[in-house]
Amino acid sequence: MRTPPPRLLLAASAAAAGLAVLALVPLSASGLVDPLQATQLALSAVTLAIAAALIANVRRTDGKALRIDARTKRQEAALAQTGSDLRRIATTLDDLAGRLDDAGRDRVRHVLAALGEDRMELTAQSGRLAGLDEAVTRLNDATRETTTGLADLRRAHDRLATATGVQDLADRLTDLAGTVRDTRSAVTGTARQTYTQLEALVDLRALLQPRAPLPPLRGWAASPDVLRLLVGRIATARPKTILECGSGASTIWLAYAAQRFGGGHVIALEHDERFAQSTRDLILAHNLQDVAEVRHAPLTTWTDRGGETFPWYDVRAVQDLPEVGLVFVDGPPGATGPEARYPAVPLLLPHCASDAWIVLDDADRPAEREIAERWLAEYPELAATSHKAEKGAIILRRTHG
Ligand SMILES: C[S@@+](CC[C@H](N)C(=O)[O-])C[C@H]1O[C@@H](n2cnc3c(N)ncnc32)[C@H](O)[C@@H]1O
Repeated sequence: MRTPPPRLLLAASAAAAGLAVLALVPLSASGLVDPLQATQLALSAVTLAIAAALIANVRRTDGKALRIDARTKRQEAALAQTGSDLRRIATTLDDLAGRLDDAGRDRVRHVLAALGEDRMELTAQSGRLAGLDEAVTRLNDATRETTTGLADLRRAHDRLATATGVQDLADRLTDLAGTVRDTRSAVTGTARQTYTQLEALVDLRALLQPRAPLPPLRGWAASPDVLRLLVGRIATARPKTILECGSGASTIWLAYAAQRFGGGHVIALEHDERFAQSTRDLILAHNLQDVAEVRHAPLTTWTDRGGETFPWYDVRAVQDLPEVGLVFVDGPPGATGPEARYPAVPLLLPHCASDAWIVLDDADRPAEREIAERWLAEYPELAATSHKAEKGAIILRRTHG
């Protein structure tokens, strides 16, 4: 059971004593209790209250003393713990000090060793410096000699420049370098062009398989790339009549194409009797006489509507032409007169089919470009397409009319 707190005990005792005294006063006054006994009883109650107060006071002091004692014990324990911690820290510090001592000794040993090595290195360096010093002296001597040599050389160069024209030589070398550059670019272009033409020739040979030897292409003759364009047109449009201005190797290739695709007929105009004959010989050699013919048509003067005159194939050679599906303008040669090929369109367009192609070779030449421009200006129904070929080619077609 819990003991009541001392203050409560004291208050209860005082209250009980007070009540006892208060009860005894009326009892004694009424004569129910003897005043002496009442006085004794009151004194006893007060004595009891005082005793209770004393006991309560003792108990309070006792409680305080116990609490102080407990606190003292806790502080003692804490102190003991702190003492133990301090001892442990002291031991750790001792240990650390010992280790620091060891580390310090090691460091000193290392520093001493390093100092020793440095001293040896310094000795070696000073030896090398001595060697370097000698080398610098030798270098200085050599530099002096070289300077003298260069001065001699410069004097010799000046003498040479005046004596043999070194400047002249340098200029010629610069020119030569330019020529080499141009030559290299030309060689590269030629190699590329050769490959393109070879490729076209291989194509033509594979497709048409000529039965006898053929004269070379390019140069005076048409190039393989423009022949491939013409053969391609024959293969797709299958024209019944193919007209060529200027005979030669091209006549044979066109005849093979006409024979292979659709059975068209090739008519080649040739102003020079010798070349007319040699082309006829070729036609026979390739057994193409049923497919191709050469019409010898010497150059005569043709006058246009404006009165301008041109030497061109004798027009009688083209008067009986059936509807022409493909015209190859590769003659007369430019040497026969300015705008030698101009009459081709005014004279041949009336004989052409509505879907005919007129192919002008050598279109990279300024004269041929001018002819094409004149055709386009005078015949608005024509449209032109440039074809990338070794000598340039222009394809003209009717767009209307
Ligand atoms: C540009 S050539 C074209 C010949 C033909 N279209 C060809 O591709 O083989 C035009 C004219 O040159 C002439 N010709 C042909 N072969 C020749 C040659 N080897 N040397 C000089 N002129 C030639 C002919 O009169 C021919 O009509």
